[in-house]
Amino acid sequence: MSPPAPPAKKIIFSGVRPTGPAHLGNYVGAFRNWLRLQDDYRCFYSIVGWHALSSEYANAGSIRDNIWEVAVDLLSLGLDPAKCVLFAQSDVQEHAELHLILSMFIPLPWLERVPTYKEMQLELADKDLNTYGFLGYPVLQTADIILYKADVVPVGEDQEAHLELAREVVRRFNRLIAPVFPEPQTLLTDVPRLAGTDGRKMSKSFGNAVYLKDPPAVIREKISTMVTDTRRKRRSDAGEPNDCPAFTLHRAFVAKDKQEELARGCRSAGIGCLECKKVAIDALLAFLLPTQEIRAQYEKNPQAVWKILAEGAARARQAAQKTMAEVRASLGF
Ligand code: TRP
Ligand code: SF4
Repeated sequence: MSPPAPPAKKIIFSGVRPTGPAHLGNYVGAFRNWLRLQDDYRCFYSIVGWHALSSEYANAGSIRDNIWEVAVDLLSLGLDPAKCVLFAQSDVQEHAELHLILSMFIPLPWLERVPTYKEMQLELADKDLNTYGFLGYPVLQTADIILYKADVVPVGEDQEAHLELAREVVRRFNRLIAPVFPEPQTLLTDVPRLAGTDGRKMSKSFGNAVYLKDPPAVIREKISTMVTDTRRKRRSDAGEPNDCPAFTLHRAFVAKDKQEELARGCRSAGIGCLECKKVAIDALLAFLLPTQEIRAQYEKNPQAVWKILAEGAARARQAAQKTMAEVRASLGF
């Protein structure tokens, strides 16, 4: 007798907006999980250029370069195109078709009350985000996810409202038309919040980020001058690592026992901040330097990245076309 077939892998979908090179916050908050999940799930990871367009429409020419940048960041970190499907959203037209169809089903108030809608408009006040497409941002995100019938979506807490909307849309479509889509579950992995050099959350728009591709000298400089616990005005003042922005780097990149040793040194004023930060810098460089070597290879051969994305898109399209055939049939088209 043949052994029982292994259970089908669950499907994962996640997306990243190509707005520039990735920083450590992107890695710790999202990509680290993407990498962990690629063995145990059927993963679709998409670089979502149309989402970027919703805020960058006046500067659309930058999006293509940024798709390449983010793809290289992911590949350099060890995302393996043989294990997961890595592709650009804009290469798979079915995202647009499903977005259009879903838009017919969604009551406007559902979108107007998504908290990120007003928050993002405030955060990006220099851009006019009072557009049809920007209101529909979570609709496009829903289309991304359910086009692959994803079971699980690994995202940060800030995306929870979008996932809640996606589930509501799925329930409505399944009830009004036909039970085509599974309800996607959020996979919130508790990720350490990484502080930027000024102590606020690390973010490209705050100008406080350490980038994966920063040269070692830049990384050393940024972290050496990073904000620490304000209690430690002098070397002899004791500090509290839990109140230290720099220590969020240790939490993310330094081995646990070393973290504890440094924490004791901080609380007893046994070590200075520079000495403490040096441990984080060394750990970070040990992690980043090999990824930067891989990046250098792709920089010599940019076409290789486009080829990987094209192959990913072909695989994504297969799954997407299957779902769209079902959607069209369910609607009677
Ligand atoms: N909105 C997500 C973000 O800003 C990006 C995204 C687009 C996404 N489509 C997605 C995330 C689908 C998860 C699933 O980070
Ligand atoms: Fe932060 Fe380390 Fe300085 Fe303590 S010793 S304040 S943890 S940098």
